[in-house]
Amino acid sequence: MARVDFLLNGAPVSVDVAPTVTLLDWLRDTRRLTGTKEGCNEGDCGACTVSVASLDDGRVIHRALNACILFLPQVQGRAVRTVEGLAAPGGALHPVQQAMVDHHGSQCGFCTPGIVMSLYAAARAGRADHDDVLAGNLCRCTGYGPVVRAAEAAAAEPAPWLADAVTGEGAAMAALPAGDAAMAPEDLDAFADWYAANPDAVLVAGATDVGLWVTKQMRDLGQVVFLNRLAALQRIESGPEGITIGSGVTLSRLRGYMAGRFPAFAELIRRYGSVQVRNAATIGGNIANGSPIGDCPPPLIALGARLVLRRGGVRRVLPLEDFFLAYGRQDRQPGEFVESVVVPPQPNRLRVWKVSKRFDQDISALCGAFCVSVEDGRVVAARIAFGGMAATPKRALAVEAAITGQPWTQAAVRAAMPAFADDFRPISDMRASAAYRLRVARNLLLRAWAEDQGQRVSLAQRVAV
Ligand SMILES: Cc1cc2nc3c(=O)[nH]c(=O)nc-3n(C[C@H](O)[C@H](O)[C@H](O)COP(=O)(O)OP(=O)(O)OC[C@H]3O[C@@H](n4cnc5c(N)ncnc54)[C@H](O)[C@@H]3O)c2cc1C
Ligand code: FES
Ligand code: FES
Repeated sequence: MARVDFLLNGAPVSVDVAPTVTLLDWLRDTRRLTGTKEGCNEGDCGACTVSVASLDDGRVIHRALNACILFLPQVQGRAVRTVEGLAAPGGALHPVQQAMVDHHGSQCGFCTPGIVMSLYAAARAGRADHDDVLAGNLCRCTGYGPVVRAAEAAAAEPAPWLADAVTGEGAAMAALPAGDAAMAPEDLDAFADWYAANPDAVLVAGATDVGLWVTKQMRDLGQVVFLNRLAALQRIESGPEGITIGSGVTLSRLRGYMAGRFPAFAELIRRYGSVQVRNAATIGGNIANGSPIGDCPPPLIALGARLVLRRGGVRRVLPLEDFFLAYGRQDRQPGEFVESVVVPPQPNRLRVWKVSKRFDQDISALCGAFCVSVEDGRVVAARIAFGGMAATPKRALAVEAAITGQPWTQAAVRAAMPAFADDFRPISDMRASAAYRLRVARNLLLRAWAEDQGQRVSLAQRVAV
């Protein structure tokens, strides 16, 4: 059992639960707070969205998260707000709720609590990019026009009764008892030693994969350890070695950091899951799970990133591409964990595209990343990496060789395009056929060249690829 202390709609709560009880199940089954809905139970529909606030450098930050794949110990020390906790003490609706009424934003109402909570968290964060904010909230009957009109109407209106200064949630979070240090450690060195001695424990970072092992596969995880309180894993540091990204950095934070350095990477992350997924998922989890269609490995490999693995006090550094040995098999020893990933210093040459059936909230059919250095019109170095084209994220070494030393011209690029068949034997699956994958990969090289020439690739051309 795990002791968890947090704030629920402003009031302190202390519970003893099995560590893999989800926040959604606890809210609905134990607290009977049934406003938070269960739709898919796998992070896709947003019906279970809640707002979770935490203290970051003394500031209260509100984030939308999917309660269905959030284990209760992950909210230790935090402030959870559900749809039941939005109205004013006298019963007046929150401006977001009122706007949904005024603009007819709800029909059957099943998605509505999740949408309201996404809009609430967005308003707290000062976000007005409603399309992105709502990409993780599926509505099957109302449609998004009225919802977006409600979002626009409500954005400017604060709810004075929920201002941090009024709720006092910052101080209240700081006053909560410390969590269970064995289950959710705060000291990285102590955790490293413990994990080296207990290599069978399941590491949980954002739980956007592990959560599904419980909610969909009904697995008993045995001993689990939560990494989200290890502040040392959540740093992003820039130095002579390059950018060191701690494995616990969430995709949302990484997106903000990359925006000014590698904008194509930031844009890729915008297409990663949804706001709720990106607020939970970590870069360490995205690498450690070894998925052939994980979105971060291709751009990181193209950027020449190195992975830092740690076992106890011993660190091992390897090129990221060497970590992925075969499908489901990574170069990670028992008791070893991903500590950080280091992107070497370089100018921004990265181009990366995710190709998927839906624009938002979809897994890649393939993802191609390109770093091509050109001097005096010739390619002097190239690093090209793809996800979705093989059993692991993989470099396109034959293509790299085919363009290196050649003029960076359309003719030379077209001559190199067949080399993709030497690098990859993609599979056909529900996302794409092998032939489609190969053809798109070739055309992404052409697109990388075209955009290097300053050519905008039109929608018609995109459809043609
Ligand atoms: C709705 C939805 C949409 C998604 N969309 C995308 C998408 O667009 N693109 C994409 O790439 N992925 C997507 N995913 C998959 C998932 O978000 C990612 O794989 C995610 O990055 C996993 O990170 P996490 O922190 O949640 O990992 P967790 O689920 O906590 O862990 C994943 C695995 O990594 C291990 N692990 C975690 N941290 C470490 C560490 N530091 N060292 C060693 N092992 C570790 C865990 O033990 C586990 O085996 C989606 C998932 C969902 C549910
Ligand atoms: S129930 Fe669908 S995202 Fe949680
Ligand atoms: S109102 Fe019915 S699903 Fe959105």
